[in-house]
Amino acid sequence: MNISGKARAHTNIALIKYWGKANEDLIIPMNNSLSVTLDKFYTETKVTFSPDYKKDTLILNGQEVSEEQSKKIYRFMDIVRERSQSSLHAHIESVNYVPTAAGLASSASAYAALAAACNEALDLNMSDKDLSRLARRGSGSASRSIFGGFAEWEKGIDDETSYAHSIESDGWEDDLSMIFVVINNQSKKVSSRSGMSHTRDTSRFYQYWLDHVDEDIASVKQAIKQKDFKHLGEVIEENGLRMHSTNLGAQPPFSYLVPESYEVMEIVHKCRKAGYPCYFTMDAGPNVKILVEKNNQQYIIDALLESFNEEQVIASDITHTGIEIME
Ligand code: ADP
Ligand code: DP6
Ligand code: CO
Repeated sequence: MNISGKARAHTNIALIKYWGKANEDLIIPMNNSLSVTLDKFYTETKVTFSPDYKKDTLILNGQEVSEEQSKKIYRFMDIVRERSQSSLHAHIESVNYVPTAAGLASSASAYAALAAACNEALDLNMSDKDLSRLARRGSGSASRSIFGGFAEWEKGIDDETSYAHSIESDGWEDDLSMIFVVINNQSKKVSSRSGMSHTRDTSRFYQYWLDHVDEDIASVKQAIKQKDFKHLGEVIEENGLRMHSTNLGAQPPFSYLVPESYEVMEIVHKCRKAGYPCYFTMDAGPNVKILVEKNNQQYIIDALLESFNEEQVIASDITHTGIEIME
């Protein structure tokens, strides 16, 4: 007997970053983080369990993923089996409508979709909170992709207490959008996982990061409450740059950013000077994301198109939709 489930989850981009784990095995973070969920980028995953399967397999974008690259998936599926008291292996077919491992948060939509698909297939009836906890075990940022709009991942202290929830925003996200400037859509050399681990363990600036992140979270929540875009933008831009500076303080130091990333930051500065508020953030990759109010979106896009081509500049709404069951 085969049992299957299919789900879609959208990626999310952190406005206040998750950077460093307190527990690598359980994926408990060192700090709370806060994100927006994007309409344009998502993952669709179908999982089928059957006694006929002797091991788990992952077909990603139509290609079977190698044994070596499947290790994270095997670990995750072991957690699902433990949770559901099942011994069945799975065949997983997944399509990323987002470049994989390019700093555009494919791991977030991937593990949120997989958690939801497993929940469906195995009739686990998990709450959003428990789905967030499960998705977290695959990739920390996935804990937030269970939800639409703004979401906060509470770091917690253990598996039970580390999960995300949505943040009430009175629909403010409808007025906002995020512009992605895709400088490189190829797989990055330093994964989020190894980059944050190296930084947490060796960076001279890491304690400074930890000392200020709670203030940033509080400021962002206040800005959301007051719908204060300037305040929101100033805090998130500073938080993102501070995260990247922890990498410069690592031993040896490293950076995800490239000259074009700085070029985009300069364009953002120019747009602001011209009276169009917009603010940038970067993740574990060179691509830059710009948060803007929708009514100013076109001005920023036009400014970017003077230096980048149309395929590189992608605007996305923020979606209200969390995980969705398909079929
Ligand atoms: P990103 O910036 O894209 O999130 P990460 O380094 O955090 O990059 O994660 C990339 C990893 O996530 C991939 O190497 C792969 O292990 C996993 N991944 C991405 N998409 C999928 C998917 N659809 N199904 C399963 N695993 C995926
Ligand atoms: C910079 O969630 O991809 O995008 O938990 O090891 O899978 P793992 O890492 P991941 O890290 C995301 C880091 C970030 C910031 C963020 O999304 O909060
Ligand atoms: Co990731």
